[in-house]
Amino acid sequence: MYDIARIRDDFPILSTEVYPGVPLVYLDSAASSQKPLPVLAAMDEYYRHYHANVHRGVHRLSELATNAYEAARVAVAAFVHAPAPEEVIFVGNATEGFNLVAYSWGRANVGPGDEILLTEMEHHANIVPWQILAAEKGATVRYLPIHDDGTLALERLDEFLTERTRLLAFTAASNVLGTINPVRQLVDAAHTVGALAMVDGAQMAPHMPIDVQALDCDFLAFSSHKMCGPTGIGVLYGKRELLATMPPFLGGGDMIRRVTFDGFVPNELPWKFEAGTPRIAEAIGLHAATDYLSGLGLDAVHAHEQAITDYALESLSEVPGLTVLGPSGGRGGLIAFTLKGLHPHDIAEVLDKDGVAIRAGHHCAMPLHMRLGIPASARASFYVHTTTEEVDKLTAALHRARSLFKLD
Ligand SMILES: Cc1ncc(COP(=O)(O)O)c(C=O)c1O
Repeated sequence: MYDIARIRDDFPILSTEVYPGVPLVYLDSAASSQKPLPVLAAMDEYYRHYHANVHRGVHRLSELATNAYEAARVAVAAFVHAPAPEEVIFVGNATEGFNLVAYSWGRANVGPGDEILLTEMEHHANIVPWQILAAEKGATVRYLPIHDDGTLALERLDEFLTERTRLLAFTAASNVLGTINPVRQLVDAAHTVGALAMVDGAQMAPHMPIDVQALDCDFLAFSSHKMCGPTGIGVLYGKRELLATMPPFLGGGDMIRRVTFDGFVPNELPWKFEAGTPRIAEAIGLHAATDYLSGLGLDAVHAHEQAITDYALESLSEVPGLTVLGPSGGRGGLIAFTLKGLHPHDIAEVLDKDGVAIRAGHHCAMPLHMRLGIPASARASFYVHTTTEEVDKLTAALHRARSLFKLD
């Protein structure tokens, strides 16, 4: 049984009043999720009782910290069903995962005339690193179009995937449209033309089970802070045979086996890609977050979010002038929308006075908004703790915004 009351008790911030007498209705988890008690406790315990640098000291605390840091890697590998922990690289966030692949794999494997295929629904994190790479190498970035309903034009894949395509990088779930993409189908299509496939898991890892072996993706990147974990850490999964041949991304301590005045020998995987003192507390927090989500069950989390989304779609359909972006079904737990006559920032500001926290803007997907012919949108996003009562507050606040701006 999905016990929403008990789950809400796990998140201390949910009992916050944002203004005196106004309780928080947090509908911005897609931007960053709140943190449950076990995550706060794990990081507190580390800093209070066994903080030390890892991999370097022979003393007891360093050994405890190293064990906890590497245990986090094992837990994350299990969370995404990676064959081995050394295929899990701790990075700063999903964005850094894309940059690592673009700089390391990209600079070694992409040349003039080559193509990187993205889609029109990508987050800037999965656009800009490839644009930088393409500009440097004389390569081209192409975009698989979307249909007007916010689904990918999969029937045009053959046209866009060519023998020049070196990589297909795409999001598993859109942070604006809510569209859930057919990951395995896209990965297979990339492999058919000899390209690699990189999945943006930022909106998948927090919300549904992931099995990188079943998906057969070559790389997957996601962020801890969207999945109940701390900020400052993310994950890059890569197939071992690829990571092993890729040159280091950042240089410094920990990523080397030996350094002389003339050069260096890189460390083994995964440390080859983790230069300097790593994110120790953050890895420990992320470990607690993966345990927490696995405890709830990712299938149950996904089912809960779908039920809340269906409820919200129904309830928002009664707000005059409101247009939902994205497909009518098969979507993740977020709804971006426009409201005729009101700028998204005005909507968000009015809702804030009612304690309802939503996002307004381009959600780091400016090209997608351009494709949709709108400058910005408002977005409500749901998570493990969202209730139908909170959705009712969202709808009521939107009605209030309409009457405040005399749209009735
Ligand atoms: C689909 C998607 N990809 C990538 C990112 C980037 O995540 P981060 O800013 O944590 O690197 C986000 C964050 O909003 C996202 O929604």
